[in-house]
Amino acid sequence: GLKKKEVNVLCLGLDNSGKTTIINQLKPSNLRYCLFSLQAQAQDIVPTIGFSIEKFKTSSLSFTVFDMSGQGRYRNLWEHYYKEGQAIIFVIDSGDKLRMVVAKEELDTLLNHPDIKHRRIPILFFANKMDLKDALSAVKVSQLLCLENIKDKPWHICASDAVKGEGLQEGVDWLLDTAQ
Ligand code: GTP
Ligand code: MG
Repeated sequence: GLKKKEVNVLCLGLDNSGKTTIINQLKPSNLRYCLFSLQAQAQDIVPTIGFSIEKFKTSSLSFTVFDMSGQGRYRNLWEHYYKEGQAIIFVIDSGDKLRMVVAKEELDTLLNHPDIKHRRIPILFFANKMDLKDALSAVKVSQLLCLENIKDKPWHICASDAVKGEGLQEGVDWLLDTAQ
């Protein structure tokens, strides 16, 4: 597995799906709970412009996370980082039924890219925003994205609530155990 190693993780998905929120939760330097009021939690996340690179260490791993903007006009930046990526986190807004088809298109484009297509790169899907009342289940999201068609790469889907930090650890543990 990836334990005790450096790993480049690409964090992809449509705008507003929760990528930056997830990455902020994974950062051990996350001092929000000690230093700031609850109010600060929501306000420090803004839409990512282009991308941002975050480096951080957990007990088992040095992460370099490429937090890509999901906005349409920036999505063509994603592919420039595919070669460097050793693992992918693909985030879906489970409450955004209207754009599930757009998420699928972006996923299919990713899976068919020459820098991704023939590699056994693990993909962790977060069916994020599971706290929303009308959120689709992880099973339903996985059906709509046709994940069962991914046969040549290890993949896993977790429901998550990135604001509360729920479901994230299970997913990251899977990623660390699976990637090499
Ligand atoms: P871009 O940088 O524009 O691509 O968006 P992003 O994927 O990085 O999304 P971001 O983390 O900025 O989150 C977008 C909004 O969704 C913010 O207002 C977050 O607080 C909110 N959000 C993120 N995760 C969750 C979640 O699990 N549940 C709920 N209810 N809101 C969430
Ligand atoms: Mg972002």
